Amino acid sequence: MALAPPGLRSRAQSAPDGAPAHVAIIMDGNGRWAKSRGLPRSLGHRAGVAALKRTVEAAPDFGIGRMTVFGFSTENWRRPAGEVSELMRLMKNYVQSDLARLEKAGVRVRIIGSREGLTPDILSIIEHAETHTAGNDRFHLQVAFNYGARPDIVNAAQRFAARVKAGLAEPEDLTEDSFQSYLSTADSPAPDLIIRTSGEQRLSNFMLWEAAYAEFVFQDVLWPDYGRELLKAAVEEFRTRERRYGGADVNDALAAG
Ligand code: FPP
Repeated sequence: MALAPPGLRSRAQSAPDGAPAHVAIIMDGNGRWAKSRGLPRSLGHRAGVAALKRTVEAAPDFGIGRMTVFGFSTENWRRPAGEVSELMRLMKNYVQSDLARLEKAGVRVRIIGSREGLTPDILSIIEHAETHTAGNDRFHLQVAFNYGARPDIVNAAQRFAARVKAGLAEPEDLTEDSFQSYLSTADSPAPDLIIRTSGEQRLSNFMLWEAAYAEFVFQDVLWPDYGRELLKAAVEEFRTRERRYGGADVNDALAAG
């Protein structure tokens, strides 16, 4: 498997044994899972949280050091109010009820996305989780919550423009690396593998900038049915991929002298 060129290494790097160091997941299909059982959508989301717990617990066993999950998108505000509040409640419960366990397991929790529109109780839970786990380094869990990649990119551009306006930067100072530092994923390497469940094959405004060199695995299973075995299958599929980062196949390059 090819190594990323120097400029990309800090942003995308597989674990030494060929495992994806950073896996991002679009957890899709909670609603369909519930519908197929004649259950309300809220129960699909609850089962989705259980799947999330199983998946996070299994991840380190496959050499994964970081996971980003898409918990709530900026577009999800368009869902019925009851469903939005259920997703907010689940987020709160997940962080609150699992925090002690995550903390003990050496997990660092980060919430990426906009803080705008979130209620004070959610904001304080987020802050509490981030500060209490800030010293952990065994596994990084990033929850994309109230996240949309385009708003994140626009926000980054606005923040850089404000620095230029204030005379603190010149337009030429903007490079790929410096732009990255304005995104809400600033401190994170890029995902090596992006998984989407439920058979849909779209990015849906998730990590557009960060996905530049990611591998994609689409699994035709509804998110509440996800767990260790399906994550293992995705990692195995990733290991079969050859990543060239725009360069030539290593063997072809050697043959060309
Ligand atoms: C997609 O299912 C899933 C979501 C809207 C977000 C994922 C949410 C969870 C796993 C539960 C909450 C967990 C956290 C951490 C907030 P869908 O409703 O779009 O499913 P459908 O496409 O079948 O309708």
